[in-house]
Amino acid sequence: MAVSPETSAGSEPAQSASKDAVSGQATFVVVANRLPVDLERLPDGTTRWKRSPGGLVTALEPILRSNQGGAWVGWAGVADAELDPIVEDGLELYPVTLSADDIAQYYEGFSNATLWPLYHDVIVKPEYHREWWNSYVDVNRRFAEATAKAAAHGATVWIQDYQLQLVPKMLRMLRPDLTIGFFLHIPFPPVELFMQLPWRTEIVEGLLGADLIGFHLQGGAQNFLYLSRRLAGQPTSRATVGVRSKLGVVQVGFRNVRVGAFPISIDSGKLDEQSRTKAIRDRAKQIRKELGNPERIMLGVDRLDYTKGIDVRLAALHELLDENRVDPKNTVMVQLATPSRERVESYVQMRGDIERKVSRINGEYGEVGRPVVHYIHRPIPRDELIAFFVAADVMLVTPFRDGMNLVAKEYVACRSDLGGALLLSEFTGAASELRQAFLCNPHDLDGVKDAMEQALDQPREDGRRHMRALRRQVLAHDVDRWARSFLGALAQDGVAGRALITPGEANEKS
Ligand code: ADP
Ligand code: G6P
Repeated sequence: MAVSPETSAGSEPAQSASKDAVSGQATFVVVANRLPVDLERLPDGTTRWKRSPGGLVTALEPILRSNQGGAWVGWAGVADAELDPIVEDGLELYPVTLSADDIAQYYEGFSNATLWPLYHDVIVKPEYHREWWNSYVDVNRRFAEATAKAAAHGATVWIQDYQLQLVPKMLRMLRPDLTIGFFLHIPFPPVELFMQLPWRTEIVEGLLGADLIGFHLQGGAQNFLYLSRRLAGQPTSRATVGVRSKLGVVQVGFRNVRVGAFPISIDSGKLDEQSRTKAIRDRAKQIRKELGNPERIMLGVDRLDYTKGIDVRLAALHELLDENRVDPKNTVMVQLATPSRERVESYVQMRGDIERKVSRINGEYGEVGRPVVHYIHRPIPRDELIAFFVAADVMLVTPFRDGMNLVAKEYVACRSDLGGALLLSEFTGAASELRQAFLCNPHDLDGVKDAMEQALDQPREDGRRHMRALRRQVLAHDVDRWARSFLGALAQDGVAGRALITPGEANEKS
């Protein structure tokens, strides 16, 4: 199998997944719900691999590919796929089989209809079902067992994200010889929200099986430290927010679990390089032409998820058109939306809502052959996406809540011409780094409209200054630096930078 991280979805030929069987002695193992590639079953019965959706894969794939000898344990994205381990470009993939029931209860249910909304500020109401929880426990156990088989003695294992929060403890019980890290790619919620979860103690204890637990932001780390003391009965837990180390420490028996903030990023150097190529520049010009050479192109690039605030940017555009503050003759918006979690009810509803909004704007303000909003509901090939970033005058990133939001960083990395403007929600992790963006509160529609208008009308020299500053941040803080900082901390013996204050105190200071 040969699926380049940069190939577009669905471009690879069918392959036998069991071709290059591997022995399972990996010294570095990433464990995530998804493998970096999804198996796709085509109507004619053949299969092919395509790039998996989402920011987790975008961030981790380059690291694993540059780390020869690494292994990745995950699900191949379809039901009941019994696949042997395979090697792809030196990366060992260990598929975990999920049945249709597992997908309904563990993935669509507990992961994406309980944890996802709970951790994203309950934008939709989380559902709590005992049978979903049982399935979550069961599937987490299977991931732990698959990892225990893949990892060599004394290996480093890096477990990813909310779908696998029980794996650290389960894996430690199976394999006490391993060094275990955990990183949460989504926000860790405020204590008051987390306390809704009937299985809150089990989740906190599950995570405390790791040696190091990473969050995007300090706020998430502090929430977790507080909860460890409150729920997991760790009276001697201590946290440091001192100068020498930003890591908190929780004592679990004789072990020290370290907790800290590690803001994730992208392979910014590579994107910068790709975006400068003639092929991409030419394609960007062609995109503008295909859109009818408008004066201004606004762009949204998201998984179709209710957290992303796609509805907010459409509502803002609609009102600006109504108020004659945006001219439909010279402004277009392109919304590229990857299908996501399509059987989860809240996603079905949101898709209907967004598609109605798009057609309403076009019905009121479009002309034949000249819509105001161009909406594509499928994944876009990587090169094409980069060309869109280069072409866009205003990038719209308006989530109600987002752990980081890599799209914002990707846009900045692609603007070596110092053109373009970034409209960025305050409720993304990226906002704490990208201060020179046009920041907005997505709950404040008038504020979003004003920020959108300012971004559209930004004087060129101001734009260049802002973009230069944004690029400095994104190019210096790339995903390689993120991984080195997490794995470097994981490799330390945990003695450095000890307790200055307790988790309770840490929380009070937040
Ligand atoms: P999330 O992880 O919640 O999906 P991020 O913004 O952190 O959000 O990461 C999304 C990743 O998926 C980015 O690498 C982005 O380029 C990619 N992506 C988003 N939408 C599309 C699309 N329509 N086509 C192709 N890739 C997309
Ligand atoms: C976010 C999550 C990832 C997830 C991705 C795509 O990035 O943090 O864990 O893989 O979205 O979502 P999906 O449900 O399709 O895996």
